[in-house]
Amino acid sequence: MRFLTYGSTNIDLIFTVDHILAAGETLQSTSLTKSAGGKGANQSTALAKAGAAVFHAGKIGSDGLFLLDLLQSWGVDTRYVRTYDGATGQALIQVDRTGQNAIILYGGGNKAITVDEIEETLASFGEGDMLVLQNEIVHTDTLIRRAKERGMQVCMNIAPFDPSVFDLSLSMLDIIVVNEIEAAALGRVAQKSAYEEILEQLVAAYPGAQILLTVGAGGSYYGFGNERHHQPIIEAEVVDTTAAGDTFIGYYLASIGRGLEPKEAMYWATKAASITVSRSGAMASIPYASEVFG
Ligand code: RIB
Repeated sequence: MRFLTYGSTNIDLIFTVDHILAAGETLQSTSLTKSAGGKGANQSTALAKAGAAVFHAGKIGSDGLFLLDLLQSWGVDTRYVRTYDGATGQALIQVDRTGQNAIILYGGGNKAITVDEIEETLASFGEGDMLVLQNEIVHTDTLIRRAKERGMQVCMNIAPFDPSVFDLSLSMLDIIVVNEIEAAALGRVAQKSAYEEILEQLVAAYPGAQILLTVGAGGSYYGFGNERHHQPIIEAEVVDTTAAGDTFIGYYLASIGRGLEPKEAMYWATKAASITVSRSGAMASIPYASEVFG
Protein backbone atom coordinates (compact mmCIF):
# COMPACT_ATOMS: atom_id res chain seq x y z
CA MET A 1 0.00 0.00 0.00
CA ARG A 2 1.26 3.51 -0.86
CA PHE A 3 0.38 6.41 1.41
CA LEU A 4 -0.11 10.02 0.32
CA THR A 5 -0.19 12.49 3.19
CA TYR A 6 -1.66 15.78 1.97
CA GLY A 7 -0.93 17.95 4.93
CA SER A 8 0.66 20.64 6.96
CA THR A 9 4.39 21.22 6.97
CA ASN A 10 5.40 23.56 9.80
CA ILE A 11 8.35 25.20 11.42
CA ASP A 12 7.83 24.56 15.14
CA LEU A 13 9.07 27.10 17.69
CA ILE A 14 9.08 25.19 20.96
CA PHE A 15 9.13 27.21 24.20
CA THR A 16 9.77 25.20 27.37
CA VAL A 17 7.74 26.76 30.18
CA ASP A 18 6.78 25.96 33.75
CA HIS A 19 3.08 26.06 32.93
CA ILE A 20 0.88 26.92 29.95
CA LEU A 21 0.40 30.69 29.76
CA ALA A 22 -2.80 32.17 31.19
CA ALA A 23 -4.56 35.22 29.70
CA GLY A 24 -2.64 38.41 30.53
CA GLU A 25 0.40 36.54 31.84
CA THR A 26 4.02 36.97 30.70
CA LEU A 27 6.40 34.11 31.30
CA GLN A 28 10.10 33.37 30.75
CA SER A 29 10.81 30.17 28.87
CA THR A 30 13.77 28.05 29.89
CA SER A 31 14.58 27.06 26.30
CA LEU A 32 13.60 27.84 22.72
CA THR A 33 14.09 25.34 19.92
CA LYS A 34 13.32 25.75 16.23
CA SER A 35 12.41 22.39 14.78
CA ALA A 36 10.45 20.53 12.13
CA GLY A 37 6.77 19.71 12.53
CA GLY A 38 3.24 20.03 11.22
CA LYS A 39 0.72 17.29 11.82
CA GLY A 40 0.87 16.25 8.16
CA ALA A 41 4.66 16.16 7.94
CA ASN A 42 4.83 14.34 11.28
CA GLN A 43 2.40 11.70 9.95
CA SER A 44 4.57 11.29 6.85
CA THR A 45 7.67 10.98 9.02
CA ALA A 46 6.07 8.32 11.22
CA LEU A 47 4.90 6.35 8.17
CA ALA A 48 8.37 6.51 6.59
CA LYS A 49 10.23 5.66 9.80
CA ALA A 50 7.85 2.72 10.24
CA GLY A 51 8.95 1.50 6.82
CA ALA A 52 5.92 2.45 4.68
CA ALA A 53 6.07 3.93 1.16
CA VAL A 54 4.91 7.52 1.70
CA PHE A 55 4.54 10.64 -0.41
CA HIS A 56 4.12 14.00 1.32
CA ALA A 57 2.19 16.77 -0.47
CA GLY A 58 1.75 20.36 0.67
CA LYS A 59 3.28 23.81 0.29
CA ILE A 60 6.18 25.64 1.90
CA GLY A 61 8.10 28.90 1.49
CA SER A 62 11.87 29.18 1.03
CA ASP A 63 12.21 29.43 4.83
CA GLY A 64 11.04 25.82 5.07
CA LEU A 65 13.36 24.13 2.58
CA PHE A 66 15.21 22.45 5.45
CA LEU A 67 11.98 20.53 6.16
CA LEU A 68 12.22 18.87 2.76
CA ASP A 69 15.79 17.75 3.44
CA LEU A 70 14.68 16.20 6.71
CA LEU A 71 11.65 14.44 5.23
CA GLN A 72 13.79 13.06 2.41
CA SER A 73 16.45 11.87 4.86
CA TRP A 74 13.79 9.63 6.44
CA GLY A 75 12.67 8.27 3.08
CA VAL A 76 9.60 10.46 2.45
CA ASP A 77 9.01 11.23 -1.25
CA THR A 78 8.53 15.01 -1.37
CA ARG A 79 7.97 15.53 -5.10
CA TYR A 80 4.44 16.83 -4.41
CA VAL A 81 5.50 19.54 -1.95
CA ARG A 82 5.20 22.86 -3.82
CA THR A 83 7.13 26.00 -2.94
CA TYR A 84 5.68 29.51 -3.15
CA ASP A 85 6.63 33.12 -2.51
CA GLY A 86 5.41 33.27 1.10
CA ALA A 87 6.00 31.88 4.55
CA THR A 88 5.99 28.24 5.61
CA GLY A 89 3.38 27.30 8.21
CA GLN A 90 4.48 27.93 11.78
CA ALA A 91 3.55 26.54 15.17
CA LEU A 92 4.28 28.31 18.44
CA ILE A 93 4.37 25.49 20.97
CA GLN A 94 4.49 25.79 24.75
CA VAL A 95 5.62 22.62 26.52
CA ASP A 96 5.10 22.67 30.29
CA ARG A 97 6.98 20.83 33.04
CA THR A 98 4.63 17.82 32.74
CA GLY A 99 5.25 17.50 28.99
CA GLN A 100 1.79 18.78 28.00
CA ASN A 101 1.57 21.35 25.23
CA ALA A 102 -0.48 24.23 23.84
CA ILE A 103 -0.09 25.23 20.19
CA ILE A 104 -0.81 28.36 18.14
CA LEU A 105 -0.75 27.82 14.37
CA TYR A 106 0.03 30.18 11.52
CA GLY A 107 -1.16 28.55 8.28
CA GLY A 108 1.31 30.02 5.77
CA GLY A 109 1.83 27.62 2.86
CA ASN A 110 -0.66 25.14 4.34
CA LYS A 111 -3.42 27.63 3.56
CA ALA A 112 -2.05 28.47 0.09
CA ILE A 113 -2.53 25.00 -1.39
CA THR A 114 -4.66 25.16 -4.57
CA VAL A 115 -7.27 22.86 -6.10
CA ASP A 116 -5.14 22.59 -9.26
CA GLU A 117 -2.21 21.27 -7.21
CA ILE A 118 -4.51 18.76 -5.55
CA GLU A 119 -5.89 17.51 -8.89
CA GLU A 120 -2.38 17.24 -10.33
CA THR A 121 -1.14 15.27 -7.31
CA LEU A 122 -4.09 12.90 -7.02
CA ALA A 123 -3.76 12.02 -10.74
CA SER A 124 -0.83 9.77 -9.76
CA PHE A 125 -2.79 7.83 -7.12
CA GLY A 126 -5.74 5.45 -7.13
CA GLU A 127 -7.00 2.09 -5.94
CA GLY A 128 -4.72 0.44 -3.37
CA ASP A 129 -3.41 3.82 -2.15
CA MET A 130 -4.44 5.65 1.00
CA LEU A 131 -4.79 9.40 1.47
CA VAL A 132 -3.88 10.61 4.97
CA LEU A 133 -5.32 13.94 6.17
CA GLN A 134 -5.47 16.20 9.22
CA ASN A 135 -7.28 19.51 9.62
CA GLU A 136 -4.45 22.01 9.08
CA ILE A 137 -4.75 22.67 5.34
CA VAL A 138 -7.35 24.07 2.93
CA HIS A 139 -9.56 22.25 0.36
CA THR A 140 -9.87 19.18 2.57
CA ASP A 141 -13.34 18.36 1.24
CA THR A 142 -12.06 18.43 -2.34
CA LEU A 143 -9.29 16.07 -1.27
CA ILE A 144 -11.73 13.61 0.32
CA ARG A 145 -14.13 13.63 -2.64
CA ARG A 146 -11.51 13.40 -5.38
CA ALA A 147 -9.57 10.66 -3.59
CA LYS A 148 -12.71 8.57 -3.14
CA GLU A 149 -13.61 9.09 -6.83
CA ARG A 150 -10.18 7.66 -7.66
CA GLY A 151 -10.79 4.58 -5.48
CA MET A 152 -8.37 5.58 -2.71
CA GLN A 153 -9.00 4.89 0.96
CA VAL A 154 -9.01 8.02 3.12
CA CYS A 155 -7.89 8.35 6.74
CA MET A 156 -8.43 11.67 8.50
CA ASN A 157 -7.22 12.85 11.87
CA ILE A 158 -9.89 15.42 12.85
CA ALA A 159 -7.29 17.66 14.48
CA PRO A 160 -7.33 20.43 15.28
CA PHE A 161 -11.13 20.36 15.61
CA ASP A 162 -13.19 23.34 14.53
CA PRO A 163 -16.91 23.48 13.70
CA SER A 164 -16.21 23.71 9.93
CA VAL A 165 -15.30 20.01 10.18
CA PHE A 166 -19.05 19.28 9.97
CA ASP A 167 -19.03 20.72 6.42
CA LEU A 168 -16.63 17.97 5.30
CA SER A 169 -17.76 14.74 3.66
CA LEU A 170 -16.96 12.80 6.82
CA SER A 171 -19.26 9.91 5.89
CA MET A 172 -16.92 9.13 2.97
CA LEU A 173 -13.93 8.52 5.28
CA ASP A 174 -12.56 5.01 5.80
CA ILE A 175 -10.69 5.75 9.03
CA ILE A 176 -11.41 8.60 11.48
CA VAL A 177 -8.84 9.35 14.19
CA VAL A 178 -9.80 11.61 17.10
CA ASN A 179 -8.73 12.37 20.63
CA GLU A 180 -11.29 12.61 23.41
CA ILE A 181 -11.95 16.34 22.95
CA GLU A 182 -12.33 16.10 19.17
CA ALA A 183 -14.43 12.95 19.56
CA ALA A 184 -16.86 14.57 21.98
CA ALA A 185 -17.27 17.54 19.63
CA LEU A 186 -17.67 15.30 16.58
CA GLY A 187 -20.08 12.93 18.31
CA ARG A 188 -21.91 15.87 19.94
CA VAL A 189 -21.63 14.26 23.37
CA ALA A 190 -20.47 15.72 26.70
CA GLN A 191 -16.69 15.64 27.12
CA LYS A 192 -17.01 13.89 30.46
CA SER A 193 -18.90 10.94 28.94
CA ALA A 194 -17.24 7.53 29.26
CA TYR A 195 -14.82 6.82 26.41
CA GLU A 196 -16.79 3.72 25.44
CA GLU A 197 -19.92 5.85 25.15
CA ILE A 198 -18.16 8.43 22.96
CA LEU A 199 -16.85 5.60 20.77
CA GLU A 200 -20.33 4.10 20.35
CA GLN A 201 -21.70 7.48 19.36
CA LEU A 202 -19.07 7.88 16.65
CA VAL A 203 -19.47 4.31 15.37
CA ALA A 204 -23.21 4.95 15.03
CA ALA A 205 -22.74 8.37 13.41
CA TYR A 206 -20.08 7.20 10.90
CA PRO A 207 -20.82 3.51 10.21
CA GLY A 208 -18.59 3.39 7.11
CA ALA A 209 -15.48 4.46 9.02
CA GLN A 210 -13.18 2.64 11.39
CA ILE A 211 -12.98 4.86 14.49
CA LEU A 212 -9.72 5.25 16.38
CA LEU A 213 -10.12 7.20 19.62
CA THR A 214 -6.93 8.15 21.45
CA VAL A 215 -7.35 9.31 25.04
CA GLY A 216 -3.88 10.08 26.41
CA ALA A 217 -3.25 8.12 29.61
CA GLY A 218 -6.42 6.10 28.92
CA GLY A 219 -4.85 4.53 25.82
CA SER A 220 -6.77 4.06 22.58
CA TYR A 221 -10.09 2.59 21.48
CA TYR A 222 -11.15 1.09 18.15
CA GLY A 223 -14.65 0.61 16.84
CA PHE A 224 -16.01 -0.64 13.49
CA GLY A 225 -19.19 -2.66 12.98
CA ASN A 226 -19.29 -5.06 15.93
CA GLU A 227 -15.51 -5.03 16.45
CA ARG A 228 -14.16 -3.22 19.54
CA HIS A 229 -10.64 -3.01 20.96
CA HIS A 230 -8.92 -1.16 23.75
CA GLN A 231 -5.15 -0.73 23.94
CA PRO A 232 -3.78 0.64 27.24
CA ILE A 233 -0.79 2.98 27.12
CA ILE A 234 2.75 1.68 27.50
CA GLU A 235 4.28 3.58 30.43
CA ALA A 236 7.11 6.00 29.61
CA GLU A 237 8.67 9.07 31.17
CA VAL A 238 6.79 11.98 29.60
CA VAL A 239 9.09 14.74 28.37
CA ASP A 240 7.01 16.22 25.55
CA THR A 241 3.71 14.89 24.15
CA THR A 242 4.05 16.84 20.87
CA ALA A 243 3.55 14.54 17.82
CA ALA A 244 2.47 11.55 19.93
CA GLY A 245 -0.84 11.43 18.06
CA ASP A 246 0.89 11.80 14.69
CA THR A 247 3.27 8.97 15.58
CA PHE A 248 0.34 6.77 16.61
CA ILE A 249 -1.38 7.35 13.27
CA GLY A 250 1.75 6.76 11.17
CA TYR A 251 2.65 3.52 12.93
CA TYR A 252 -0.97 2.34 12.98
CA LEU A 253 -1.38 2.86 9.24
CA ALA A 254 2.04 1.41 8.38
CA SER A 255 1.11 -1.70 10.39
CA ILE A 256 -2.26 -2.00 8.65
CA GLY A 257 -0.43 -1.56 5.33
CA ARG A 258 1.73 -4.56 6.27
CA GLY A 259 -1.41 -6.64 6.75
CA LEU A 260 -1.70 -6.53 10.55
CA GLU A 261 -5.10 -6.54 12.26
CA PRO A 262 -6.30 -3.35 14.02
CA LYS A 263 -5.60 -4.76 17.50
CA GLU A 264 -1.95 -5.54 16.63
CA ALA A 265 -1.55 -2.24 14.78
CA MET A 266 -2.80 -0.39 17.90
CA TYR A 267 -0.14 -2.10 20.00
CA TRP A 268 2.73 -1.06 17.73
CA ALA A 269 1.30 2.44 17.35
CA THR A 270 1.12 2.75 21.13
CA LYS A 271 4.68 1.52 21.55
CA ALA A 272 5.93 4.07 18.98
CA ALA A 273 3.98 6.90 20.64
CA SER A 274 5.40 5.94 24.05
CA ILE A 275 8.89 6.53 22.65
CA THR A 276 7.87 9.85 21.05
CA VAL A 277 6.59 11.27 24.37
CA SER A 278 9.91 10.45 26.05
CA ARG A 279 11.75 12.87 23.73
CA SER A 280 11.42 16.53 22.84
CA GLY A 281 10.25 17.91 19.52
CA ALA A 282 7.93 16.72 16.80
CA MET A 283 9.40 14.99 13.72
CA ALA A 284 12.75 14.38 15.40
CA SER A 285 11.14 12.60 18.36
CA ILE A 286 9.42 9.97 16.19
CA PRO A 287 11.21 6.60 16.55
CA TYR A 288 12.60 4.39 13.80
CA ALA A 289 11.13 0.94 13.11
CA SER A 290 14.14 -0.73 14.73
CA GLU A 291 13.37 1.04 18.03
CA VAL A 292 9.72 0.00 17.92
CA PHE A 293 9.67 -3.47 16.37
CA GLY A 294 13.07 -4.41 17.85
O1 RIB B 1 0.83 17.38 16.32
C1 RIB B 1 1.91 18.22 16.59
C2 RIB B 1 2.04 19.27 15.52
O2 RIB B 1 0.92 20.12 15.57
C3 RIB B 1 3.24 20.17 15.67
O3 RIB B 1 4.38 19.67 15.04
C4 RIB B 1 2.74 21.50 15.12
O4 RIB B 1 3.40 21.91 13.97
C5 RIB B 1 1.24 21.32 14.89
O5 RIB B 1 0.92 21.13 13.57
